Amino acid sequence: MSEKMIRSIAVMTSGGDSPGMNCVIRSVVRAAIGERLKVYGIKRGYQGLLNNDMEEMNASSVGNIIHHGGTVLYTSRCPEFKEKEFRAKAAQILEDRDIDALVVIGGDGSFKGAKALHDEFGISVIGIPGTIDNDISGTDYTIGFDTAVQTAMEAVDKIRDTAQSSDRTFLIEVMGARSSSIALKVGICSGAENILLNSDEEVNYEKLSSDVRRGIRRGKNSSIIIVAEGESPGRSYNIAKVLEQKHDISSKVCVLGHIQRGGSPTPNDRFFASVMGKEAVSALISNLECHAVVVRENSVAVVPLDQCMQKSDHAMINYLGVSETLSI
Ligand code: F6P
Repeated sequence: MSEKMIRSIAVMTSGGDSPGMNCVIRSVVRAAIGERLKVYGIKRGYQGLLNNDMEEMNASSVGNIIHHGGTVLYTSRCPEFKEKEFRAKAAQILEDRDIDALVVIGGDGSFKGAKALHDEFGISVIGIPGTIDNDISGTDYTIGFDTAVQTAMEAVDKIRDTAQSSDRTFLIEVMGARSSSIALKVGICSGAENILLNSDEEVNYEKLSSDVRRGIRRGKNSSIIIVAEGESPGRSYNIAKVLEQKHDISSKVCVLGHIQRGGSPTPNDRFFASVMGKEAVSALISNLECHAVVVRENSVAVVPLDQCMQKSDHAMINYLGVSETLSI
């Protein structure tokens, strides 16, 4: 490992925003200032880096943001960054500005870009997992997940009021792309009658309809079915159609959508974001060059970045039985 002196770092948020990203930015900026580093905030992730769109930050640039969702640095998805010629341009921009290291707050795709910047151009990089999906390998937790679950759970509670009052079955679709983490946790926390995971691409309609009917026989007048969005949002509409046409069960669909990405972060998200941001700066100061700050068994740790570059569904599917047992 080369012993390079870190004097100046840059921080960015990349990919889908998640509540708690502002807490990480605040932590990185203030920890860096505490270490007498120069710190730049890059706007709109890799796209902003390619546009040389960044500014130096100070302690007050991150004042009063700890409780806000979204990201003051903005974010974007940047497909160009998959190409080496664009990464070369980014490395040159960092070099021209004498920036020694980059902190990337985002998901596995953003980490792949960071790893390539390190491997090809020797830029020190550190990743901090930020996505509502909780779908990154190597870490049990991603910043924003807890808030998204809280938001979705509150929405389901509200829908339950109207479902109950009007004798209705609701399909409530939650985000998570290919991960079922949000669906499973929200389903258990809101006492859903059924949870359709991502892996249930082929929905078992016989089971679903017989569960709904069994509930009715037992005196339930409403049902909540949580649906993991899967590959493409909106699959609940099709499920509702099949339930109606083939099983004579009518239902209402509610796709919660981007409401799950906003809002004030929960204490859990704020806590881990604050600890992880500071830890990222310490790792760079200790000359770690290509790492990620993760949460394992409820503790913050620093691990090689390549452990965190795969999608991994952290839905604890073994707990599905809890929901099935309790939702009778
Ligand atoms: O950030 C993750 C996520 O919210 C997924 O849960 C969802 O499928 C996707 O992003 C939506 O992306 P976009 O905001 O680009 O539509």
